[in-house]
Amino acid sequence: MKHLTGLYGLPASSLEELLDLSARYRAGLLRESGTFDPVLANRRIALVFFENSTRTRFSFELAARNLGAGTLSFTAAASSVTKGETLSDTIRNLEAMKVDAFVLRHPSSGAADFVASITGRPVINAGDGTHEHPTQALLDILTLREYFGRIAGLRVMILGDILHSRVARSNIFGLKTLGAEIAVCGPATLLPGRIDGLGVKVFTSIDEAISWADAAIVLRLQLERATGGYIPSLQEYSSSYGLTDEKLDRLRKHLPVLHPGPINREIEISNHVADRIQPPGYSSSMLMEQVTNGVAVRMAVLHRLMDGR
Ligand code: NCD
Repeated sequence: MKHLTGLYGLPASSLEELLDLSARYRAGLLRESGTFDPVLANRRIALVFFENSTRTRFSFELAARNLGAGTLSFTAAASSVTKGETLSDTIRNLEAMKVDAFVLRHPSSGAADFVASITGRPVINAGDGTHEHPTQALLDILTLREYFGRIAGLRVMILGDILHSRVARSNIFGLKTLGAEIAVCGPATLLPGRIDGLGVKVFTSIDEAISWADAAIVLRLQLERATGGYIPSLQEYSSSYGLTDEKLDRLRKHLPVLHPGPINREIEISNHVADRIQPPGYSSSMLMEQVTNGVAVRMAVLHRLMDGR
């Protein structure tokens, strides 16, 4: 594996190898010893972000540092992109400064594959348009695997704005390869036209989806990509498709809930579900667990792609 631009087409053995290494790094992070083998000492990683990010950028940076690598941060608004520089010129110039790998976030679908085609360095896709976000899906899958002890046979429902979601696509590819059953649920206007071609069940009733599922991945309503007309109003969306205690208590108390963040509180997820801490035997919110697992997954991906083994 030279690049990680998506989970589409990645065999189960590669996914499992990444998840096993992630699980080892996760155990290290939970011990809080703060030290790891500096397998990437003296390596430099360019974090090239053309879109805003909190979790993804910070966790790639921490992951790189945990393994001894240095990071260089690039923010489009503060770069020569504002002077009209092209993406390929930006990448070629950073490459000429001898950076060892690129972590790229870009608003255009396909940007990561494009960069991979013009550089000899490993490229990791940190989200490209509505295409893929492979490390987010890996961290979601790791979170589910740690909770259930397996992925094969799990029923995972993905709720909300599927149409604009690179997270949904990467999760569908990765989870299906590992043998999970997937359902998507949302208003018809926020489901891609040929979604059943991806081999997923489709629910427009949230009650049916909750009753079917073993776990839920709730997605943010991508207000910056949806330019209107997809939903009647935020209020109606949240009363029909927002995940609330009322719906969970009525249908399924034990449903682990994931969300990639950032969350729109009280729109796709209620405050109480997002922050829920339950007594043993009931499922709590997995959101913070996901964030910790994100560092572990990014350590594993950087290690695998940059260590050359
Ligand atoms: C996601 C993204 O940027 O694709 N967030 C993230 O990486 N944690 C999902 C989102 O923006 O809704």
